[in-house]
Amino acid sequence: AVIGAGIGGTSAAYFLRQKFGKDVRIDVFEKGTVGGRLATVNVEGKDYEAGGSVIHPLNLHMKHFVKELGLSVPDNQDSLMGIYNGDEFVFEESSWYIINVLKLLWNYGFNSLRMNMWVEDILDKFMRIYRYQAHDYSFSSIEGLLHALGGNDFIQMLNRTLDETMQKAGFSQKFIYEVVTPIMRVNYGQGVNISSFAGAVSLAGTDSGLWSVKGGNKLVCTGLLYASKAQLISGTVIAVEEKTRPKHTGGTVKLYEVSYNSTSGSASDLYDIVLVATPLNRKMANITFRNFNPPIPEFSNNYHQTVATFVHGRLNASFFGYKESSYFSLADIFTTENPKLFINSLGIVSPVQNKPEEAKQPMGEAVWKVFSKEPVTKEQLNLLFSAYDSVKEKKWLAYPHYSIPKNCPPVILHDRIYYLNGIEWAASAMEMSAIAAKNAALLSYHRWYRNADMIDQEDLNEKLKTEL
Ligand SMILES: Cc1cc2nc3c(=O)[nH]c(=O)nc-3n(C[C@H](O)[C@H](O)[C@H](O)COP(=O)(O)OP(=O)(O)OC[C@H]3O[C@@H](n4cnc5c(N)ncnc54)[C@H](O)[C@@H]3O)c2cc1C
Ligand SMILES: *[C@@H]1O[C@H](CO)[C@@H](O)[C@H](O)[C@H]1NC(C)=O
Ligand SMILES: *[C@@H]1O[C@H](CO)[C@@H](O)[C@H](O)[C@H]1NC(C)=O
Ligand SMILES: *[C@@H]1O[C@H](CO)[C@@H](O)[C@H](O)[C@H]1NC(C)=O
Ligand SMILES: *[C@@H]1O[C@H](CO)[C@@H](O)[C@H](O)[C@H]1NC(C)=O
Ligand SMILES: *[C@@H]1O[C@H](CO)[C@@H](O)[C@H](O)[C@H]1NC(C)=O
Repeated sequence: AVIGAGIGGTSAAYFLRQKFGKDVRIDVFEKGTVGGRLATVNVEGKDYEAGGSVIHPLNLHMKHFVKELGLSVPDNQDSLMGIYNGDEFVFEESSWYIINVLKLLWNYGFNSLRMNMWVEDILDKFMRIYRYQAHDYSFSSIEGLLHALGGNDFIQMLNRTLDETMQKAGFSQKFIYEVVTPIMRVNYGQGVNISSFAGAVSLAGTDSGLWSVKGGNKLVCTGLLYASKAQLISGTVIAVEEKTRPKHTGGTVKLYEVSYNSTSGSASDLYDIVLVATPLNRKMANITFRNFNPPIPEFSNNYHQTVATFVHGRLNASFFGYKESSYFSLADIFTTENPKLFINSLGIVSPVQNKPEEAKQPMGEAVWKVFSKEPVTKEQLNLLFSAYDSVKEKKWLAYPHYSIPKNCPPVILHDRIYYLNGIEWAASAMEMSAIAAKNAALLSYHRWYRNADMIDQEDLNEKLKTEL
């Protein structure tokens, strides 16, 4: 049983099928719609990404899925970014690359360049996961996985704020406040208080070459589900309980009973292995683990609310301090931390089926996506926009509310129950869920067949080097 049909659950079904072969039964439970936090909203007849939207060029699992499933990527459109501090823009991109480089140098010295190198170094180590997984290696904890990639440095990054790490590394306060904080606010709705690891993943999200899936990222989930030949059960899993059942060959066997509600009433079924692919948070999943001894603990699992509001209208340039709106050319606005700001960011978005002619027109009518912590009020919309018609709102429990120190929840909840979403406490992203899914598929396989030598191996990087 796989509980949850987001990118984590559907990619888990896909990898489980690869490992266990065509004869095992795989059921995927979903209480809402396939895709989970990958979803689109419709504004005036066109669909826009409302949840997870951009994918890094080096997210190799996502890349592989899209290729394997025959999906495609829409044409990329460049747009200009500015950082607003509540009074004025502290940084504005120009359409001239060289001017941007000079502006960054002038404002922040070599901070920006050094940040790129710092992120690249972390990404290089992170990329080791693909070789380990290609060689079938698995990990029984998130900390173990991260340690295999980047040693104690990576482990420390879980327990140290981005602010502290960057200050220690000599980045300037101004740079952290004016450049790094706005990036955290766009990606995780939080400040530089989040862990350095989540922070580094978020910074990588500003690299060039980001992409998304034509027709919507959620198509990856429906495609993987289909490719896995798993059965989708539309229902809400309420409880999981261990049961002892007689075997027809004599003796007994221990199985997990998964109880769920669906439109046709409540039902339950028995499974050898259960993968939980949703955050175990009472507000999000509310699954009870009944009669386990020792009990499966509840871990504090607070998720951060982010509201995505889609507005079709014309921006009010004077709200952002522009006297002459015809000079306004920004299509992405990031913000610094300022209590008087009621938004985290806003930007013009293209439909998931976008065609090249739908180019971004900052001062014309456009669909803007506004991110905020709380729903945007009508008065606030009247400040942000000089005119607008449609408004669509999507409220998310989006990603962990990162606090430090924090241990990642376990991967193994019980003998054959695996939990994928603990990885979000290292960092939350589509690719992170896919990595956790492949790890859980490999781990459950190796534990089933008792391949101890494929679990938690030390020095994998050295081992695989000499194997070549
Ligand atoms: C606004 C926003 C912006 C984001 N931007 C990006 C981005 O640009 N790039 C990026 O990589 N990531 C981004 N993310 C993060 C990314 O979307 C998530 O990390 C990823 O989609 C999580 O996938 P998942 O499958 O692990 O969880 P989910 O997608 O949450 O899937 C869990 C599924 O389980 C189902 N479920 C829950 N409880 C039960 C139950 N009891 N029984 C049956 N089913 C159940 C839920 O309905 C859900 O469909 C963003 C997220 C949000 C919200
Ligand atoms: C974040 O850090 C600031 C100081 O930089 C502190 O005041 C605030 O309480 C912290 N928030 C969280 C959620 O830890
Ligand atoms: C599940 O269904 C049963 C019976 O139909 C009902 O009593 C129970 O309240 C439902 N539980 C949830 C969480 O929906
Ligand atoms: C979780 O489900 C239980 C019943 O299984 C119910 O009593 C409880 O109110 C639910 N909690 C939330 C937060 O929905
Ligand atoms: C635009 O912003 C200015 C400055 O905040 C504000 O005075 C005005 O009411 C806003 N709305 C319109 C429609 O101009
Ligand atoms: C993080 O800090 C907590 C409390 O100080 C500690 O228990 C935990 O082991 C640390 N985690 C890591 C991965 O270092």
